[in-house]
Amino acid sequence: MRVLTGIQASGKLHIGNYFGAMKPMIELQEKEELFTFIANYHSLTTSKNATLLKELTFDAAIDYLSLGINPEKTTFWVQSDVPQVLELYWMLSKFTPMGLLERAHSYKDKVAKGITANHALFSYPVLMAADILLLDTEKVPVGKDQIQHVEMTRDIAVKFNNEYGEIFTLPEHVVNEDVATIPGIDGQKMSKSYDNAIDIFMETEKKLQKRCNKILSSSTPLGEPLEYQGCHIYNIASLFLDENRKVELQARYKSGEEGYGHFKKYLKELIWEEFSEAREKREAYLNNPDLVKDILNDGAKKMQIIANNKMAQVRDAVGIL
Ligand code: ADP
Ligand code: TRP
Repeated sequence: MRVLTGIQASGKLHIGNYFGAMKPMIELQEKEELFTFIANYHSLTTSKNATLLKELTFDAAIDYLSLGINPEKTTFWVQSDVPQVLELYWMLSKFTPMGLLERAHSYKDKVAKGITANHALFSYPVLMAADILLLDTEKVPVGKDQIQHVEMTRDIAVKFNNEYGEIFTLPEHVVNEDVATIPGIDGQKMSKSYDNAIDIFMETEKKLQKRCNKILSSSTPLGEPLEYQGCHIYNIASLFLDENRKVELQARYKSGEEGYGHFKKYLKELIWEEFSEAREKREAYLNNPDLVKDILNDGAKKMQIIANNKMAQVRDAVGIL
């Protein structure tokens, strides 16, 4: 099964991103033919700073490689290294009714928030359709906010195929319902916009501990049993634990021998340990940016072959010499 995921490089990753999106993606590599790219053309719709966009793109590549994207198994590239996608975007534009784009929730939400609409923001779903259709994608794992974009891709592909024959594979979205919403330090959904996130790559253990200490907890005096249910520390810690270790932690809560401070320390250790290998890999990549460039170039080369084949078919179908 050919699976495509697109990554918006938007800065530091937090453990909500990890458990909600990255871990399931990394696990997919074992089972499916995974294609993953960094959607830097998409980021242009909101970017205001060229240096920052370059940095974010490169950092995202390093973070994903460190956390487990395996270039031996997964084709991993930067969107702009396969610019054929922009040609397809134009071809698909003809099959994209204005009304379809006007109904896009993500566009309407952005306009409602006061973002001044421009054509790139408006036609964002057509570029996403081009990403997906360029490589005969069968499945697209997405968050709920992106389902409509995959549906629009199908609509566009059906219209194109009706006119020119079966050129495009119709993709399906996959939403992983098992993935829970990871809470932040205030118990609300962890998000970089709510200042409640715990980042995956904290510079030092001390900083990570400081962040964990900010998790909201009640003030039960030491010596009394603690309630693990509904405790934000427990909820975050349990992401890192198998069933046996969860039961052990529950027993520690009930024993009354430890306070929230102990559990915050334990949580810091769990997080630090979980990402220790990724941190080492990340250091190595940061010290060897050429290796990262080589990996991305290899991915782009593989994609170039696929993209050229598909574009030859599309050009011929529509009558471009
Ligand atoms: P943020 O809310 O921090 O801006 P993004 O919207 O960039 O996060 O999310 C990137 C990916 O991470 C999405 O697939 C999203 O579903 C997932 N994700 C983000 N926050 C959480 C969370 N708290 N719990 C589960 N998944 C999350
Ligand atoms: N729009 C997606 C997001 O914001 C990123 C993306 C761009 C994408 N092109 C894609 C995702 C193609 C899947 C397939 O998260």
